[in-house]
Amino acid sequence: MQNRSAKELREMFLQYFEEKGCKRYHSFSLIPDDPTLLFTVAGMVPFKPYFLGIKKPEVLRATTAQKCVRTNDIENVGRTARHHTFFEMLGNFSFGDYFKEEIIPWSWEFMTERIGLEPERLYATIYLDDDEAHDIWRDKVGLPEERIIRLGDEDNFWAAGPTGPCGPCSEIIYDQGPEYSCGKPDCAVGCDCDRYLEIWNLVFMQFNRDEAGNLTPLPKKNIDTGMGLERLASVVQNVPTDFETDLFLPIIEEISKIANVTYGSDPKKDLAIKVIADHIRASAFMIADGILPTNEGRGYVLRRLIRRSIRYGRLLGIERMFMASLLPVVQTAMGVEYHELEEQSSAIEQVLNTEEDRFSRTLVQGSELLDTEVKKLVSDGVKVLPGEVAFVLYDTYGFPYELTEEICDEHGFTIDKDAFETEMEAQRERARASSKQASAVMAKSAYSDIREKSGTTNFVGYTMTEIETQVVAIIVDGEERDLLNEGESGDVILADTPFYAEKGGQVGDTGSIAQERVIFDVKDTVAPVDDLTAHRGTLLKGTLTKGALVKASIDAERRKAIQRHHTATHLIHEALTRVLGKHVRQAGSIVTPTFLRFDFNHFAQLTSEQIHDVEKLVFEQILKDLPVLTEEMSIEDAKKTGARALFDEKYGDLVRVLCVEGFSTELCGGTHVKRTGEIGVIKIVREEGIGSGIRRINAIVGQTAFDIFQRMGFAVAHLVTIFGDDMENITSRVEELMDEKKVLERKNRELQVKSATTNIQDSVKPAASVNGIDFIVEKFQNISIELIRQIGDKIRQKYPTSVILLIGVGEEKRVNMTVMASDEAVAKGMNAGTLMKEITAVMGGKGGGKPALAQGGAANDEKLGEAMQKAPAIFENLMNAKG
Ligand code: SER
Repeated sequence: MQNRSAKELREMFLQYFEEKGCKRYHSFSLIPDDPTLLFTVAGMVPFKPYFLGIKKPEVLRATTAQKCVRTNDIENVGRTARHHTFFEMLGNFSFGDYFKEEIIPWSWEFMTERIGLEPERLYATIYLDDDEAHDIWRDKVGLPEERIIRLGDEDNFWAAGPTGPCGPCSEIIYDQGPEYSCGKPDCAVGCDCDRYLEIWNLVFMQFNRDEAGNLTPLPKKNIDTGMGLERLASVVQNVPTDFETDLFLPIIEEISKIANVTYGSDPKKDLAIKVIADHIRASAFMIADGILPTNEGRGYVLRRLIRRSIRYGRLLGIERMFMASLLPVVQTAMGVEYHELEEQSSAIEQVLNTEEDRFSRTLVQGSELLDTEVKKLVSDGVKVLPGEVAFVLYDTYGFPYELTEEICDEHGFTIDKDAFETEMEAQRERARASSKQASAVMAKSAYSDIREKSGTTNFVGYTMTEIETQVVAIIVDGEERDLLNEGESGDVILADTPFYAEKGGQVGDTGSIAQERVIFDVKDTVAPVDDLTAHRGTLLKGTLTKGALVKASIDAERRKAIQRHHTATHLIHEALTRVLGKHVRQAGSIVTPTFLRFDFNHFAQLTSEQIHDVEKLVFEQILKDLPVLTEEMSIEDAKKTGARALFDEKYGDLVRVLCVEGFSTELCGGTHVKRTGEIGVIKIVREEGIGSGIRRINAIVGQTAFDIFQRMGFAVAHLVTIFGDDMENITSRVEELMDEKKVLERKNRELQVKSATTNIQDSVKPAASVNGIDFIVEKFQNISIELIRQIGDKIRQKYPTSVILLIGVGEEKRVNMTVMASDEAVAKGMNAGTLMKEITAVMGGKGGGKPALAQGGAANDEKLGEAMQKAPAIFENLMNAKG
């Protein structure tokens, strides 16, 4: 068999299936479009809707080399020949098209004729009663009967998860030879050891399994096959484990170089090197697909992988940051196919460095704490680490629980997991309690009572703007009332309402509740308890009584403006995901009639190009005038549509799915426009960071956006008139002017110095002279300290052996003083600092400094005259005293 690189093998596979009519797709993201899965765990995941018959595929045959992440066996990585967190699955798929008859012979042809594996080393396993597969292997392929092995559910029935598409499968097994055997007497095909290697899994996907475990036949029979590229490479390259293939070896060599150790010299060190080599591949690809290290979900898995690598790095003696420096070898090993690594390289580097830096700071203290704790327990003869310690390590030092567990395991310890969970729960409770608003808790009871007595409010505002209804209750200052008098403020509860109560970022409606000669002005609408709407406002006219029949009308124009901003928020969310990546998740929002605010996670400031792209993408959807549709369904069904949901939001059993046709699908209870065209126009007015990893966008649409555009237009038109230039040249014209202004300002300063100093040189006369040292006093109005010094230098040219006192009187009559004493003056005993102190003391001011230079001043110039008068005498005194 010819030796081939992993890149060649990947290409041969894809080409082979292209020859068989399959469309080649680039690997799909590691983030599946599937709420039931955390990661893409197999090549078939992106195609799930086609197998289930929910969506129509664009082709009936497909092939991919798919990036996959599986972390259930993370502890085995590096300990065995073939466990990885990240791997590539070579796959080919038929959506109701070719089936067993075709795929079995094709797989054989590919393995033996294209790759050149020896047929004598190959076996096929099949599902217990799958005679069809059996016959094809025997009769069409010609595989001897004894090399077709029937196995049960565990080995030969494949499913992506507890529910979903599944079916019997047939696996191609490669016999690595007796030297790889575990040596057990019953070691045979199906044994978990390294001898009989499962290389390629052919799944005959025929069923869907529901939550109760029932299998129902799928509308069509499908094929899903998957072969681990790492395994195939290890067989073809004839190396004992995946880690010696060209997919891993360059990375391993780089780690060994950084750690200055020889791979293969010490099993403990090899383990650490293999773990890092595995985890850096996974981390790089996860970040490239937009996952960021966090404390939940995918982000938590990523954080664990990075932190685990760093700890293994320390075990190898690597003390500096090293993860990001492995990226170039990862890129080279994976090849050009994975352009995302190259495109996202700076983001990957930045994220790795930040996480490494963050964890490095606490790793040492955390490890010491754990060490001390372990030693203490050992001396006490206890082998269980208290959950509280694991919690402190998690909470304060950032040790993922599983990492602490692993370290404990190395010492033969376990963790009291229940106690850890209790601490975690207590912390969640603290977080929940602190976020609740005290006032809401206090006022709740009256509203809950009403809801209990009269039921929930019937919201009709998705379709109506006004309704005739009845006043159910009136509440003033938390107490129920029977009536409200003119001028009084309070909350009115109605049986039905078109008023939307503030929720999910959308502000509450305003409007009126009226009867003949009665008007209640609704200034805000809230839901103090779930499903009960309180109309908050003031009675402008008449008397409002409980039980009265009224007409409730919202301010419909305002509501329309709110709706425009709300639908725009959904468009922005989707556009951000498309421009920045799938990691973008909503972290909060505000939707008002005049602006919207959208917070989301992203690690860097948006460039102006990105902002433009988002704006443009949203505007394109507005121009397309897409229908905005809503549908109520169960949360399960909603998830199946791929609707985006907020992470921490609690949803009821029945949810509302909002879909901007062909663009975005999201769970949302808010109110929206009917078609995107109503939004009119969009402008993002601001983008800013509001905390670690969270960005905020402020945007306006509809009338507000139009107003801004108009104002901007006026401003530009005005500028154009002033400058007599055209619009395109205005900015460069203004820049030119700013530059000219700077030049003029500088020239002006120079002129000021020049004019001040020319006059001065002529007019300056010493106020005193002692021992050949002249004392000069000069006063200026509104002059900078910088300029004063320059003037001082000029005077010094005329009076080289002198003490110069320069006084500046500035804004609000503040006095600034500078004393400059020449070397001779200092040599003859003058100290500018002392002189300054004494002169400023006359004004009740302050000052001091060094012998040659001093500064001082006073809050006002009231006593400046006196100080100037006394100055020569003070100078003389000091000179005489020293001289
Ligand atoms: N889905 C199957 C597997 O993961 C074959 O691709 O093994």
